Amino acid sequence: MTEKHIDITIEEYGSLEEMNAEDQELVKAAIKAMGGAYAPYSHFHVGAAVRLSNGEIVTGANQENAAFPSGLCAERTAMFAAGSKYPDKDMVSIAIAGGVHGRVGMPASPCGACRQVMAQYQTKAGKPMSVIMAGSDQILKVRRVDDLLPMIFDNI
Ligand code: THU
Repeated sequence: MTEKHIDITIEEYGSLEEMNAEDQELVKAAIKAMGGAYAPYSHFHVGAAVRLSNGEIVTGANQENAAFPSGLCAERTAMFAAGSKYPDKDMVSIAIAGGVHGRVGMPASPCGACRQVMAQYQTKAGKPMSVIMAGSDQILKVRRVDDLLPMIFDNI
């Protein structure tokens, strides 16, 4: 038996101004996208913004439903919109922001299903996709989806 260890790198920013101009723009787009949330059950509003290889930004917000599993997270809403509209472009980065009643709170950490979808688009691109989790007092960034979802399933 050998024991393996996985190294995960998380960049931590104390303010938006510490980030590069592109990331700042993406975070602002994610915060703005929170306005599109339809969250009558959780009141937790989430916005996501995807940057494509052509520089374009595509946004999405969480959409809830009375049949709870029929709703969709902001991240997948944004990624599926980006994938549908620009099937030939790579997703290079995604920013996420969220909070109760639309007030940005803790850094928004994506759910497992959204991490799996990010992993798939990263594999499709063949290049790392960064994930920015924006909070009111702290912003976290991983430079590749593997740092959120180690041992990615993409073997089929
Ligand atoms: N939600 C997202 O949109 N993204 C996440 O990363 C976590 C959760 C949504 C789903 C649901 O509408 C609400 O937040 C509460 O879970």
